[in-house]
Amino acid sequence: MAGRNQTAITEFLLQGLPIESERKNLFYALFLVMYVTTVLGNLLIIFLIRLDSQLHTPMYLFLSNLSFSDLCFSSVTMPKLLQNMQSQVPSIPYTGCLTQMYFFLFFGDLESFLLVAMAYDRYVAICFPLHYTTIMSPKLCLSLVALSWGLTTLHAMLHTLLMARLCFCADNVIPHFFCDMSALLKLSCSDTQVNELVIFIMGGLILVIPFLLILTSYARIVSSILKVPSARGIRKAFSTCGSHMAVVSLFYGTVIGLYLCPSADNSTVKDMVMAMMYTVVTPMLNPFIYSLRNRDMKGALGRVFCRKKTPFSV
Ligand SMILES: *[C@@H]1O[C@H](CO)[C@@H](O)[C@H](O)[C@H]1NC(C)=O
Repeated sequence: MAGRNQTAITEFLLQGLPIESERKNLFYALFLVMYVTTVLGNLLIIFLIRLDSQLHTPMYLFLSNLSFSDLCFSSVTMPKLLQNMQSQVPSIPYTGCLTQMYFFLFFGDLESFLLVAMAYDRYVAICFPLHYTTIMSPKLCLSLVALSWGLTTLHAMLHTLLMARLCFCADNVIPHFFCDMSALLKLSCSDTQVNELVIFIMGGLILVIPFLLILTSYARIVSSILKVPSARGIRKAFSTCGSHMAVVSLFYGTVIGLYLCPSADNSTVKDMVMAMMYTVVTPMLNPFIYSLRNRDMKGALGRVFCRKKTPFSV
C-alpha cells in the first residue's frame, strides 16, 4: 500500500503519567488499591443483584449493567497503566492501541446510555407509579440495554475504523497513559480533518443528547412533585433519585469539565488528571454511591450473607 512505507511503526510508547521516579512506588500502590477497589466493589454489586431476587427490578438490573460497564471501563486502561509503570519500555503494539481505543469508547458510551435508561426508569417510577410494572416490562428493559450496546458498538467502530486509515510514521510516543484518540491524531502524519470533524459531531451527539434526555426526565420528575408538594413526596423522590443524580453529576461533571474547558497551552497534564478522574475515580465511586446510602442494597447484603452462613440447608 502506498501509505505504508518501511518506517510505518508497529508499536507505540505510552509516556504515562508525569510522576517523579522516587514517588513511582507510592502512586503504583495507590492506583493498584483503587483498581482493586473498583473491581471488588462492582463485582459485589453484580453478585448481590444476581443473587437476591428482591433486587430483580429494572432499576437494579440497570445498575448491575452499569457496574459491569464500570468494571470493564477501568479494566481497559488500568492494568496496562500498572504494567507500564513497572516496565522499562512502556510499549503497546499498534493493534493493541486500536483495541484499547475501541473498548475505551465502547464502555465510556455504554455508561452514558445506561445512565439515560436509568433516568427514564426513575421518571416512570415517580410520574406513573401505577403503570410502572407494565411500562418497564422485562422486554423494554432488555431492548434499552440492547439498544445501548448497539449504538455504542457503532460509535466505537466508526472512530476505530477512521483511526485505522491513518498512517503513523516517525513519532510514536503518546504523551498519555492510554491510547487516547486525540493524542493519536496528533501523532499521525496523514490528514486528520475527517477524523476531527467526526469526533466533533459524534462527540456532541453522544454527550449532549443523553445529557438532555436525563435533564428532561429530571425536569418532569421535579414538576410532577411540585404539582402536589408534600414532604413525603420530596423525600421519596430524593431517596430513589439521589444516587442516580450523584452518579450523573460525577460522570458528566468530569467529562464536561474536560471538553468545555480545554487547556489553552499544550498542557497534557490537566487532560491526564481529568482522564484519571473518569477512568479510575468515577468507576470506583459508583458502587459506594449506590450501596452506602441504599437500604435495599444493605438489606440484600444481609440476606445474601446470612443465607450463606446456614450450612447444609439443602
Ligand atoms: C442488564 O440488563 C438486562 C435487562 O434488564 C438484564 O437482563 C441483564 O441481566 C443485565 N446484565 C447484567 C450483567 O446485570
